[in-house]
Amino acid sequence: MIALSTMEKAALCSGLDAWRTKPAKDIPSVRMADGPNGLRFETEEDGTKSVARATCFPSACLLACSFDTELLEEMGAAMAKEARSKGVDLILGPSVNIKRNPLCGRNFEYFSEDPVLSGEMGAALVRGLQGGGVGATLKHFALNNQEKARLSSDSIADERAKREIYLKSFEIAISKSDPWAVMTAYNKIDGVYASENQELLGILKKEWGYGGLAMSDWGAVCDRIAGIEAGLDLEMPADSGFRARLISKAVDSGDLSITALDQAAKRVAKLGEKAEKARENPTSLIDIKAHHDLARRIAAESMVLLKNENGLLPLDPSQTFGVVGEFAKKPRYQGGGASNVHPTKLPNFLDELEASGISYELSDGEFRSETVIAFLGQPISYDSEGYDRPSMSLPESQVALLEKLSSMGKKVIALIFAGGAVETPWIGLVDCAIMCYLPGQGASGAALDVLFGKVNPSGKLAESFPKSYGDVLSKDFFGQEKVIEYRESVFVGYRHYQTAGIKVAFPFGHGLSYTSVEYSELLLEKREEGAFASFTLKNTGNVYGAEVCQLYVSPPASPVPRPVIELKAFKKIGLQPGEEATLSFDLKENDFSFWDPKERGWRTVGGFHKIIVGASSEDFRLQGQIWIEGDVCAAFAPFDFAGLSRESFEALLGRKVVEHQALPITRFSTLKEIRLTRVGRLIEKLVKKQSGNGEA
Ligand code: BGC
Repeated sequence: MIALSTMEKAALCSGLDAWRTKPAKDIPSVRMADGPNGLRFETEEDGTKSVARATCFPSACLLACSFDTELLEEMGAAMAKEARSKGVDLILGPSVNIKRNPLCGRNFEYFSEDPVLSGEMGAALVRGLQGGGVGATLKHFALNNQEKARLSSDSIADERAKREIYLKSFEIAISKSDPWAVMTAYNKIDGVYASENQELLGILKKEWGYGGLAMSDWGAVCDRIAGIEAGLDLEMPADSGFRARLISKAVDSGDLSITALDQAAKRVAKLGEKAEKARENPTSLIDIKAHHDLARRIAAESMVLLKNENGLLPLDPSQTFGVVGEFAKKPRYQGGGASNVHPTKLPNFLDELEASGISYELSDGEFRSETVIAFLGQPISYDSEGYDRPSMSLPESQVALLEKLSSMGKKVIALIFAGGAVETPWIGLVDCAIMCYLPGQGASGAALDVLFGKVNPSGKLAESFPKSYGDVLSKDFFGQEKVIEYRESVFVGYRHYQTAGIKVAFPFGHGLSYTSVEYSELLLEKREEGAFASFTLKNTGNVYGAEVCQLYVSPPASPVPRPVIELKAFKKIGLQPGEEATLSFDLKENDFSFWDPKERGWRTVGGFHKIIVGASSEDFRLQGQIWIEGDVCAAFAPFDFAGLSRESFEALLGRKVVEHQALPITRFSTLKEIRLTRVGRLIEKLVKKQSGNGEA
């Protein structure tokens, strides 16, 4: 490669500071910024850090409900403009981790429990960003599905769960968007940190042929030499130069091959070239208002109408409405941590009502008006980095308020703001419910647009809403500090509920509209590789509306336990009243296959596969079947949902679960682990003594 010394190459492999890569000779430095849902551009002046204002778009939890790839591309393009105006070359997002469990603290940053939806949404955002001349970083690779002990935990999943669920979202996003970078996760996988995991990085670079940059999460590198050997090109953020010396020494001593270092340095240099080329395009002026309007439109087109009793919605703006709830005055619009954006503006719901000339009475529960709009949701502290959501329920005071309003005979419309799925035992107390998630700075305007019918809701849930947390299959194997056993294997979200026959409160893919649609004329054809499906969709109602058509495949009896349905494709289409359209899907061979851990490859069961076109994972509108040639014979292998023992998990893994050793102590060791050593106990004693805690 470039004529650099070993030391210069080694220096390229870690950051210049918190947000930039190091330059070298003609290789430019690359500026990064966080931003799955808006630009988080940190500046520092005279030692004071601040975050520049930027448009705060909806978080991924809501974005995914749009099921609209074009909309996400539009958002990416707008974010790219804002990034370019600040000289940012690379955005640290989107995140395509799977929502394994509804309590993961960063679920609000993740799209879905389904890998196809997560991958497609992630790819769309990447295409939008990169089309606008800013690189994207797909994160956090991989099996980073809880926040508790994220720096030290060890995720253990069987090969099928990895390939069919947890790696799948990354595989799809990479193949459909070619992001400039992929960020490895903090956690270990099978006892080895993601940032030095040969198998993980081997799949990424060798098997999937990914040619971009593999970089660490911030401070996530433990053994840098092992990392370079495994394929981790860049460590972020900066260190004091210590790593470069370490790497160069390892090359000199033969502990690290120069080829591995060359590979890493080359990829960092390539990132610099891409950034330099993109900078040649002129930056355009940012229309702050247009971006705010876009954020509002995206939110409105993503919100999910869960319930609409007797067609109460949309509301008539000439009436007076009761408004209750703190979030009407102070929008609950984004989560905390690295994705937190400083919005350009943040109108509240009362501002929006006034701007539209709609009269209201604000109260904490005593109304005169007949219809009350209740702003509900979980506290702002629930959704952030570093810890998980404490629960799926709404605060008791909010449920008590709903009981009171219901006993007063009020018609209640509940707007729910939260970073993830909530339990809805109170649903019978309300006439209407809209799941708003975390809608970004256009939250209030978007809610108004949906309530009063300016926008016909078309969002669909990107995750299942179980009746209670107790129904979640991973509930007993989530939140561990050391080994996280993914005993539920591939049965995540609707894959579990549908296969085990568990009734949920609201299924994956559910969402109502102010119009109705009719599905007809399913046509299935076998193609040389895969299959073709088409059908007709007609708007049979009185208003314009968009529908998310979901295509699920149900496999024949298989020699491994498989979910009864799996989403393989989806399309969103808008239709005028009376209008109809033909939708078609090309299904690939891989859409019918499963991962065979013994053969380490994709296999297909020869036989009839059911093709289901649905308006949700429970609402099947059209069905047919098609014969698919396979390389495996049909057989039946049930999954024991009730018996997720360590033994059965080990049988699935084909090996014993090994709890990682507390020793050697590294900077990622927990205090509990450090306490296991004699030196650790001594340090603890000293610390306690110094802090004035007499116990020592
Ligand atoms: C987060 C990443 C983020 C990085 C930089 C980490 O703590 O996990 O998602 O991009 O910080 O802020």
